[in-house]
Amino acid sequence: MSESPLPATTSTGAEPGVARRVDAPGPWWRHAVIYQIYPRSFADSDGDGIGDLPGIIARLDHLVELGVDAVWLSPFYPSPQADAGYDVADYRDVDPIFGRLADADQLLAAARSRGLRVIVDLVPNHTSSAHPWFGAALAAGPGGRERSRYVFRDGRGPDGAEPPNDWQSVFGGPAWTRVTEPDGRPGQWYLHLFDTGQPDLNWDHPEVRAEFVDILRYWLDRGVDGFRVDVAHGLVKQADLADWKPQDEPVSGPGTEGPRPPMWDQDGVHEIYQDWRRVLDSYPGERILVAEAWVQPAERLAAYVRPDEMHQAFNFEYLEASWSAPAQYAVITRSLAASAAVGAPTTWVLSNHDVIRHATRLALPIGTPRPRGIGVDDPQPDPVLGLRRARAATLLMLSLPGSAYLYQGEELGLPEHTTLPDESRQDPTWERSGHAERGRDGCRVPIPWEADAPSYGFGPADASWLPQPTLWAEYALDRQRGVPGSTYEVYRTSLRLRRERGLGTGTVYWLESPDGVLYFRNGALRVLTNFGADPVELPEGAELVHASGPLDPDGRVPTDVTVWLRLDEAGED
Ligand code: GLC
Repeated sequence: MSESPLPATTSTGAEPGVARRVDAPGPWWRHAVIYQIYPRSFADSDGDGIGDLPGIIARLDHLVELGVDAVWLSPFYPSPQADAGYDVADYRDVDPIFGRLADADQLLAAARSRGLRVIVDLVPNHTSSAHPWFGAALAAGPGGRERSRYVFRDGRGPDGAEPPNDWQSVFGGPAWTRVTEPDGRPGQWYLHLFDTGQPDLNWDHPEVRAEFVDILRYWLDRGVDGFRVDVAHGLVKQADLADWKPQDEPVSGPGTEGPRPPMWDQDGVHEIYQDWRRVLDSYPGERILVAEAWVQPAERLAAYVRPDEMHQAFNFEYLEASWSAPAQYAVITRSLAASAAVGAPTTWVLSNHDVIRHATRLALPIGTPRPRGIGVDDPQPDPVLGLRRARAATLLMLSLPGSAYLYQGEELGLPEHTTLPDESRQDPTWERSGHAERGRDGCRVPIPWEADAPSYGFGPADASWLPQPTLWAEYALDRQRGVPGSTYEVYRTSLRLRRERGLGTGTVYWLESPDGVLYFRNGALRVLTNFGADPVELPEGAELVHASGPLDPDGRVPTDVTVWLRLDEAGED
């Protein structure tokens, strides 16, 4: 790999934010580290086994100590919880299991006073089937005005007994469910790309568009710093709802090659985000939109972050890249180039509430497609190898320019819970796939704070909505805090150095390296990751600044370790 500088993402020159912790040039979101809180599983204040907003408030200082810039909260709105809150029945309130609206206000204030920004989740592709609009749609009957806010169609076949097209739900099974009409007869079908409890909205309907602008304003007025937009690539469907044959795999979005699926990444979505951008820009401060769009290649994803659309999009191509030097080199260079082409910051992410935690995923044989859950009967990935690679991957990620996302618990090195009893599973994927897919519960287990407390300090009682494994004790925060070399302290040091050295606003310059090794410079810091089988010598004159794991007894960088180095050379900025 020869020397090949890539342009840094550049600032738009907007006013610096109000928050205390912003200390790099340009808008905060171009280089921010954003921590995802999954409210059910972060901290439980009342002992019912489900995390809540008061629990988050009580633990905010952890995030300050860790050194992140912002939090993204997964949904806390009133919901039947058919998909853990991604089925929203009321977009302007808080579900009683998570607290009250006043708690949301208090959380925003408590975060702000600590210099932490807060992004909330917006779920516009579908509502819950318990949303009043859907009740009205059912009651209205075929052709009724209220039905047109959703995607209702007559079925195919003699009695309309077949679904209107062949689309499959992301969670398995048909993407259509037939309703019983008010007169008691079997009637029309409605579209749900996810669970039956998540009917898709019709984004051609002006009332749908107006409603979401109003919801944006509602939360902006309460002081949120932005929105993570759920299934941002799904809102607009191809008008003819044409059949989509290639369904060996359940639809999941990435339009890699060939024709684009009629339910994903339609060009019409962009107009919606341009409207929303105008709304955000009319507010003071630097409020942001972040796309959750499983869209590939990187150039199509970049369309979501053009200057008049969203600010960021999750980089899932990076999350899915194999743990090898060529794969990582390719995805990093492609990601930086694609976002630079539209002037957007690149983002980086390794874990979230939908994927196998990277401390487990990276121990799967290289090249394994990302599995949708791991169960007790499946081969169990090696936790030592996984954690070692995860730490190396995190150091690599945090040395890259742009914005990085962390998922709660990864700072503790938490692995996936791969032996959850099947009867405890709650992800609708498990039932809807006919038990073919274990689903996402394994990354959603309530996190451990204190090794010797009930529920490992998750809450005051020994209650947890998903069972916690006994090995959670060794990962608990109080076992790692202040312990040199612990995963938690490695994260903390990485975040501090990233901030001090301006890595988030820097530039990647690739340097010559042997096969199996990635080596680049960002500012005055050199970053080396060894993916190869053999240890590698530190470059001549290098001073070790930080490492994801110990060097070997001869002072070399072992396999699956990332080091941050300083080399005394003039001319490096
Ligand atoms: C997004 C969410 C996921 C949810 C789905 C449907 O992919 O991240 O958790 O199940 O949307 O809302």
